[in-house]
Amino acid sequence: VSPFDELVAAMDAAMVVVTAAGADGEVDGCLVGFHSQSSIDPRRYTVWLSVANRTYRLAGGATHLGVHRLTADRHDLAERFGGRTGDDGVVKLRAGTWTPGEGGAPLLHDLPDRFIGRIVDRLEAGGDHVAFVLEPSHAVLERPDEPSFRLSQAGDITPGHPA
Ligand SMILES: Cc1cc2nc3c(=O)[nH]c(=O)nc-3n(C[C@H](O)[C@H](O)[C@H](O)COP(=O)(O)O)c2cc1C
Repeated sequence: VSPFDELVAAMDAAMVVVTAAGADGEVDGCLVGFHSQSSIDPRRYTVWLSVANRTYRLAGGATHLGVHRLTADRHDLAERFGGRTGDDGVVKLRAGTWTPGEGGAPLLHDLPDRFIGRIVDRLEAGGDHVAFVLEPSHAVLERPDEPSFRLSQAGDITPGHPA
């Protein structure tokens, strides 16, 4: 492990689950550690999706994404969304567990702290992840007292797709 990797691990980022509905109505979502608010006025929030992921491909046909705060008590969902890929035929968004929000963005019933992001830009920086710059709306915080699920809690999860 490089000093850089150790430094980033020490920051212990909070994890989110990003969901997308593709142009053909297919839906998926994945665990995301690369995300941050990126402007105050106007408000912008950026998530970086790996080009290897099915969620990335669906996001290419979407106008909006769902961004869900993963809470510390939901290791099961971290495993489901981070350790499995829809490319293996795994259905992560089972019927009855989500509702389409604005622009069709899937909203997960299990993770009520979330917002919808309208995709306003897409930035490729030559790496293996692509930035989706979002205009946030429909933000809900139902569980303010529950801590966020952090990178250090995901050490036992092998990504469904290697980056
Ligand atoms: C700790 C951790 C952090 C991750 N961070 C990201 C990320 O920032 N962006 C991303 O696109 N994938 C990230 N992944 C990988 C995806 O969540 C994983 O490959 C998932 O299985 C992809 O599913 P899909 O192909 O159905 O979209 C991360 C995985 C783990 C375990």
